[in-house]
Amino acid sequence: MLMNDSLLEKAIAVLEENNRGEFTVPAANIYPHQWLWDSCFIAIGLRHLDANRAKAEIHHLLRGQWSNGMVPDKLFNSQTHRDAKLWQSNRSPFSPSDVATSGITQPPMIAEAVWQVGETLPKSERRIFFHSVFKQIVDYHMWLYRERDPHDDGMVVLVHPWESGTDNSPSWVEAMYANRIPFYVRVLASPIMSRAINFLRPDTKNIKAEERSELLVSLMNFAVLYRLRRKSYDSEKILLRSHFSIQDIGFLSILVRANDILGRIAKEIDEKLPDELINKAKMTKANLEKLWDDSSRSYFSRYFVTHHLIKTPSISSLLPLYSGAIPKERAGMLIDDIKVNYKTKYLLPSVPNSSSLFKPKRYWQGPVWINTNWLIIDGLKRYGEAELADRIAEDSVKLVKKSGTAEYFEPNTGEGLGADSFSWTAALVIDLLKRPKT
Ligand code: GLC
Repeated sequence: MLMNDSLLEKAIAVLEENNRGEFTVPAANIYPHQWLWDSCFIAIGLRHLDANRAKAEIHHLLRGQWSNGMVPDKLFNSQTHRDAKLWQSNRSPFSPSDVATSGITQPPMIAEAVWQVGETLPKSERRIFFHSVFKQIVDYHMWLYRERDPHDDGMVVLVHPWESGTDNSPSWVEAMYANRIPFYVRVLASPIMSRAINFLRPDTKNIKAEERSELLVSLMNFAVLYRLRRKSYDSEKILLRSHFSIQDIGFLSILVRANDILGRIAKEIDEKLPDELINKAKMTKANLEKLWDDSSRSYFSRYFVTHHLIKTPSISSLLPLYSGAIPKERAGMLIDDIKVNYKTKYLLPSVPNSSSLFKPKRYWQGPVWINTNWLIIDGLKRYGEAELADRIAEDSVKLVKKSGTAEYFEPNTGEGLGADSFSWTAALVIDLLKRPKT
């Protein structure tokens, strides 16, 4: 086992290895671009090492912002990369001309990252930094409400699993199967074809297939992407006949918190949030409670069209703790849920091990992820559960000491899974070690 000092050195080296000058890639071998929430977590770690690099990470991310306000989940490292060619973001009149991006977003962690970076800056520098990003974050949140809230109730809708950041979690997989599966996807996922396709999959070249999503789910992700591309990433057209649109409990919890933080940023620089944004933010906060299910004592994502809750337990159901906006009593029930259902050697598995859908090695279906741990640690502290928060923080550090900065970890053996040298694991472990204990 490594000592804390050598762990820090290792984590810093990973962020250096993945440094591409103005931004940091999540992992060189499978994620060679800039990702939205990855960069936010990376900036949260970088602020302890090099505040200028942390600021640059955010500024570079915002270079990808579309003129309608959307911040895309990926900024491609070149306009000619095959992933850029796949997305063809220039089909939308709103995409930037000088950067190739995806056409969807990811959990709105930007306000949090900006706030955390600001905490390490002297006051005058902090104000300059906040000023430099404020309007762009407001425009982003306004885009979420203008284009993704067609019922005008603050319950922003996602149109692709990748927008949730937890794309292979059981609720998203269930939604995928509930969707019409195109004939060509069935053929490609059939036993005869699947061996060849698995061989060609870029995400299984370096990583065992059992640690990634199932082939059918992976192909469906592309089928949904093609549909969005055909509609030129126009939310109105996409939602008009939306087979696949979800109000994701994790995303909405992060949005609630991001709106609050944005309000704090505005205050610090004597700016005002638009009234429309203030009203919408209140709606999201209040309507989060519509995702509560009394019989399971839990929050869930729901289908946008039918309003049916997708009652499959996963770590996303705990993220309302991070929102900081839920009643104390319900927070207490979520904390009980952790104590009863999430009982692996290392906390927290991404699916409770009491669930029949718990798969300890498969991407978002059981392994521990350090970013969701970070969010839940924060939430637990807000609701006065410091002991459990500290236990999760200790487990996170132990995992990295044992198995390195893996993308995710087997929750009983602690084995590192997915990509090695994963940036947010490195960055957040730095943050956990450097921030004062409760
Ligand atoms: C995977 C994760 C997503 C992350 C991306 C880059 O797709 O599911 O949350 O942003 O990798 O690390």
